[in-house]
Amino acid sequence: MHWRYATKQFDSSRRIPDEIWDDIEKAMVLTPSSYGLQPWKFFVITDSKVREEILPYAWNQRQVVDCSHLVVIARPTNFGAKDVDRFIARTAEVRGVDADSLAGFRNMLVSQLVEAMADHLDDWAVRQCYIALGNLMTAAALLKVDACPMEGFVPIEVDRVLGLPERGLTAAVMCPMGYRASEDRYAALPKVRYRLEDVIERI
Ligand SMILES: Cc1cc2nc3c(=O)[nH]c(=O)nc-3n(C[C@H](O)[C@H](O)[C@H](O)COP(=O)(O)O)c2cc1C
Repeated sequence: MHWRYATKQFDSSRRIPDEIWDDIEKAMVLTPSSYGLQPWKFFVITDSKVREEILPYAWNQRQVVDCSHLVVIARPTNFGAKDVDRFIARTAEVRGVDADSLAGFRNMLVSQLVEAMADHLDDWAVRQCYIALGNLMTAAALLKVDACPMEGFVPIEVDRVLGLPERGLTAAVMCPMGYRASEDRYAALPKVRYRLEDVIERI
């Protein structure tokens, strides 16, 4: 965790090898979420034309184009009962049970989450996406892959570039990934964190 830092300059000549990238994708997909509902879609963008198009809407932060893989984590704009049903169908498939046997769980999710939290579902979905972001960055760091978590972008424009509105999605956060440039002075800066005893209270 000391090794990683929010990378400001990527070495644009270096690409993450496929076998390492495969592991990062698998780690991302294994991210835990509330009830296991996984309200996200991960876009892995290597197409340089698409990245150039995103650049001005990411405050011209060069990491978007200089990185090896750009990940955009998107959330559904209208999470609802259909998403719960999709999850129940997947659970039945993976666990080898009848979807009908999960009806009680399904109805609980619809009433306690979809209906009871109707006004907060967007925030809820974003929170899940940020768990994926943290998991992604930690997995990458363990594999000595650099990353820059990024919320400095204009979601509505990135959504348009990626065609997300017509798919019922919107970008929550993004993360350029790759390898740091040797001249990135941020790599050597001491980490600014509160002292352990100031942020951890043992009871
Ligand atoms: C959710 C989130 C959004 C961030 N957005 C940006 C960003 O748009 N551009 C950027 O250069 N850094 C961004 N950062 C990086 C933070 O400034 C950085 O993580 C923090 O200062 C701690 O430094 P470190 O990650 O190097 O340890 C973001 C970090 C997080 C967690």
